Amino acid sequence: MRDFLKRLPKAELHLHIEGTLEPELMMALAERNGVSLPYGSVEAIRAAYDFTDLQSFLDLYYQGMSVLRTARDFEDLAMDYFRRAHDEGVVHVEMHVDPQAHLARGVALATVMEGLGRARRRAERELDLSTAMIMAFLRDRPADEALTLLEQAAPYWETLDAVGLDSAERGNPPAKFSEVFQRAKALGLARVAHAGEEGPPDYILEALDALEVCRIDHGVRCLEDPTLVERLREEAMVLTVCPLSNLRLKVVERMEDHPLPRLLEAGLTLTLNSDDPAYFGGGMLDNFLACRRAFGWSREVFLDLAGNAIEAAFMPEARRTELR
Ligand code: HPA
Ligand code: ZN
Repeated sequence: MRDFLKRLPKAELHLHIEGTLEPELMMALAERNGVSLPYGSVEAIRAAYDFTDLQSFLDLYYQGMSVLRTARDFEDLAMDYFRRAHDEGVVHVEMHVDPQAHLARGVALATVMEGLGRARRRAERELDLSTAMIMAFLRDRPADEALTLLEQAAPYWETLDAVGLDSAERGNPPAKFSEVFQRAKALGLARVAHAGEEGPPDYILEALDALEVCRIDHGVRCLEDPTLVERLREEAMVLTVCPLSNLRLKVVERMEDHPLPRLLEAGLTLTLNSDDPAYFGGGMLDNFLACRRAFGWSREVFLDLAGNAIEAAFMPEARRTELR
C-alpha cells in the first residue's frame, strides 16, 4: 500500500509555503542571515512543536519565518519543499503565501514574490511539478490592510491563481473580508478560505455566501450543521482536509476520531493535504498513510480523493488531461 500511495499522482491544494520550513533550513538561514533563534539545535526546535491549539502553532510559525530575509531564502524554501514533495509522488502544489507576515517584519513583497516565482519556474523545469499560488490574507489583522496588500500586489496579479484567508480563525469571521474578496473577484481571481477548522459551521456558510469561495480549507466542523452538509454536498464544494494538522492542533484527539470517514459517508468532495508539513510531522505521503492506518481505506478511496484534487486544482486543462 505504501508503494501504491507513493506512486499515486497527488495534487496538494492546501499548503502554506512558510509551513514547509524544516528545522534544518531554519538553522541554516538563521546563520546565513545573522538572525538569532531561541533554539540551540534542530532537536530543540522539533521539541518545541508541541501544540495545544491553532494559536500555539501560529506563534511558532510566525517566529520561525523570521529567518526568511532575501529572495534566495524564499527560493530555497520553496525548492526544498518541491523536491521533497516530488519524491513523495506529488505532481502539483498550490501554495498559500502570507505576505502580511513578511511585510510586517520589513521584507518587501517583491522579495517574497520574486523568490517564490523563481522556485516555481525551476519546479516546472527541473521536476515537472506544476504549481499555483494563493495569496492569503491574515484574518486576525484589519480588513483594510488586506485591501492595501491586494492593490500593492498589482505587479503579481498575473502570477496569482486565487486569494485565501488564514491565521487565527476564532473571532475573525469571513464576512470581515467581503470587500477585499469582491475586489479579488473583479480581478478575475478565484477565492478560497480557511473555515470550520476551529471556527463554527457558520463561518463556512459565511465563506460561501460573503466571499464566494470555490473551496473550503479544512471545513471539518461542517458536520455540526446537517443543513450545511447537505448544501456542501449538493454544490460538490471541495474541502481541503489536513488530517495530521488536525491531529497536531488538537482539532481531534486521535486520528481514529477524525471526522474524515463521516465526511466521506456524507458524500462530500474531499481532498487530503499537508497544511504545514514541517510543523505537523509529515508531508502528503504521511497524511495518506495516516489515513490508511486509522481508517483502513482501500485503494479506490485514495484514487477518488487524489482524483478530486486533480479536478479541483488551479491548472491549465492540458495539464489536467495529462494527469488524469
Ligand atoms: N490554519 C490557519 N492559518 C494557518 C494555518 C492553519 O492551519 N497554517 C498557516 N496559517
Ligand atoms: Zn491551512
